[in-house]
Amino acid sequence: MNWTRKDFLDIRSLSVAEIETVLDTARAFKDIIARPIKKVPSLRGKTVVNLFIEPSTRTRVSFELAAKRLSADVVAVAQEGSSFKKGETLKDTALNLQALQADYLIIRHSAAGAAQFLAERLDARVINAGDGAHEHPTQAMLDTFTIREQLGTVSGKHVLIVGDILYSRVARSDIWALTKLGARVTLVGPATLLPEHFRAMNVSVAHDLDRALPTADVINLLRIQHERQSKAAFPSLGEYISVYGLTRERFARCKPGVLIMHPGPINRGVEIESDLADGANSVILQQVTNGLAVRMAVLYLLGGGAALE
Ligand code: CP
Repeated sequence: MNWTRKDFLDIRSLSVAEIETVLDTARAFKDIIARPIKKVPSLRGKTVVNLFIEPSTRTRVSFELAAKRLSADVVAVAQEGSSFKKGETLKDTALNLQALQADYLIIRHSAAGAAQFLAERLDARVINAGDGAHEHPTQAMLDTFTIREQLGTVSGKHVLIVGDILYSRVARSDIWALTKLGARVTLVGPATLLPEHFRAMNVSVAHDLDRALPTADVINLLRIQHERQSKAAFPSLGEYISVYGLTRERFARCKPGVLIMHPGPINRGVEIESDLADGANSVILQQVTNGLAVRMAVLYLLGGGAALE
């Protein structure tokens, strides 16, 4: 299909055909980044600005590398050292970056809707690199890409998303992507971090991880996002680990080929035992590599590139 959207803001509004176009194009880019010469000229002459008003390692670096692999000029703007510190608004900052000929603005922001807000005000193409607890659409694309790559398909697979669902933009984007592609999704976590209203997203809600594990094809573990929580959601970290941490003992209840995923950053010994994060079932670092291919695909398609297969 021909890509017609100016911006890449969420998974919720994407059709299945659009999701599959990104995944197929990312597949082609994954082959390209495995070559000795990894660069292609698709975005030569274009300027990409990485505007990250929240910490990031994986997303920021992989967008930067993706843009460079496509031959774009790349500029990084962080909160520290920018005129945000002098009281400049997000809108004014973005308009100034556009006045400096930015063709793409990739934004991470603590406010839900920040990317949409800019997309409605800029001619530049806007990509959401995570907005508050709303969405993280390229994370969902790399997660579904990884499942498809490892298991052959997403359709019919049982995916557990475990932990802090309430404050997770990854959970929301993953739910949209996985359910659109036909996966069976079960959310697992304490009731304080997993309200009943999530059931309206065509998923199951469970609070007993031990019961959910044996049927899972994929376990996607989430970090507890203390930075977005205004009050404690459980009595102590030890108590959380005892009920929701993926330990060796719990892992023994899983299917032999279960995929262990995590969007990162990992808190070793909390949501996952360290050995398991580094073990044979873990695809956590493959997710990161796939993020590069997915972000190349998104930049390329927004730039008017024809879908690749
Ligand atoms: N998964 C993810 O968004 O990681 P970063 O916060 O390091 O970008």
